[in-house]
Amino acid sequence: MARLGTETAFEVLVKARALEAQGRDIVHLEIGEPDFDTPENIIGAAVDALHKGFTHYGPSAGLLPLREAIAEYVSETRGVSVTPDEVVVVPGGKPIIFFTMLALADEGDEIIYPNPGFPIYESMINYVGAKAVPIRLREEMDFRLDVDELAGLINDRTKLIIMNSPQNPTGGVLEKKDIDGIARAIGDRNVMVLTDEIYSRLIFEGEHHSIISVDGMKDRCILLDGFSKTYAMTGWRMGYGVMRADLAGSIARLMTNSNSCTASFTQIAGVEALRGPQASVEAMCAEFKKRRDVMVAGLNKIKGFSCRLPKGAFYVFPNIQQTGWPSKKLADALLEDAGVAALSGTAFGDFGEGYLRFSVANSIENIEKALERVGAWASSNL
Ligand SMILES: Cc1ncc(COP(=O)(O)O)c(C=O)c1O
Repeated sequence: MARLGTETAFEVLVKARALEAQGRDIVHLEIGEPDFDTPENIIGAAVDALHKGFTHYGPSAGLLPLREAIAEYVSETRGVSVTPDEVVVVPGGKPIIFFTMLALADEGDEIIYPNPGFPIYESMINYVGAKAVPIRLREEMDFRLDVDELAGLINDRTKLIIMNSPQNPTGGVLEKKDIDGIARAIGDRNVMVLTDEIYSRLIFEGEHHSIISVDGMKDRCILLDGFSKTYAMTGWRMGYGVMRADLAGSIARLMTNSNSCTASFTQIAGVEALRGPQASVEAMCAEFKKRRDVMVAGLNKIKGFSCRLPKGAFYVFPNIQQTGWPSKKLADALLEDAGVAALSGTAFGDFGEGYLRFSVANSIENIEKALERVGAWASSNL
């Protein structure tokens, strides 16, 4: 257990709530979840499913109608042919990370993962006793990874490469040329790829590209996607993996051993999410883009802060090196002195030092309030 890490966002949330309990006013920009409600048609489908008796166990891999809808959706959006036996439905995107590591990694295997990156990757790599090999994401490359650097990290012990685009925490988005380069760097080695595409529908500039679409790569990929971010369904706990049918069978068996199955009525709502109207997804994405613009413009006016325009997801990742403060200390001070909850870049790995992560999953009004407070703090403390 000593090797298992955590997700700091949940800890900062607890700390912020404790301050609120003392009467402080806190602007929450720490947590990575849409502040919108789940669209009404999806809620309606879940309520209807409850009344229709979807209150029992279902197959560990997921209900067939949902696996069919996912197979169709992934086939269309990624331009590959996916069948329902290549889909496993799980409670959230996270379990795909957990199960993939359990299924594929042994002690001594090497796993390459983005740093700064979603902290659960490094935590789980360490937990299963594999060697965590970071690939550094650099600001000057808009936080896309350097393909030559990646090629230099791959060796005979490399078992898995984790990719995440659009990326948490930087908002970086991989381009087609990056994806093709990564596939070339892997070549015909026996290396699997976990491609975390949970933010695939939250892109503000350019298009989403997936390595699963590259010729010859589909059988090496475990694609992670889900409902949490796209349809504002974080609390529903539903996500999925798309992978070779034999591996899908193994992951389904891990589901049998852990959760038995994902809640049945939520899966019926998942079919509605994928097959129903998509206007709410577009509206949320447009709103996140507006907020991103306000946040980045505002941060760039604050002493010591400089921020690139992220191309996707709902985070901004300003460089704070000019403040002269270490990231964690600065995040703590902003929470305690200014009442703004943000995360230290180091919550996402060692290469996050020098940065903070602000989530823009909050109203423009609150974002402006946060900017004012951070600006005032910087004027009097820097
Ligand atoms: C990159 C990334 N992958 C996976 C997840 C997990 O999503 P879920 O809440 O569906 O488990 C998150 C959530 O923050 C994330 O940022």
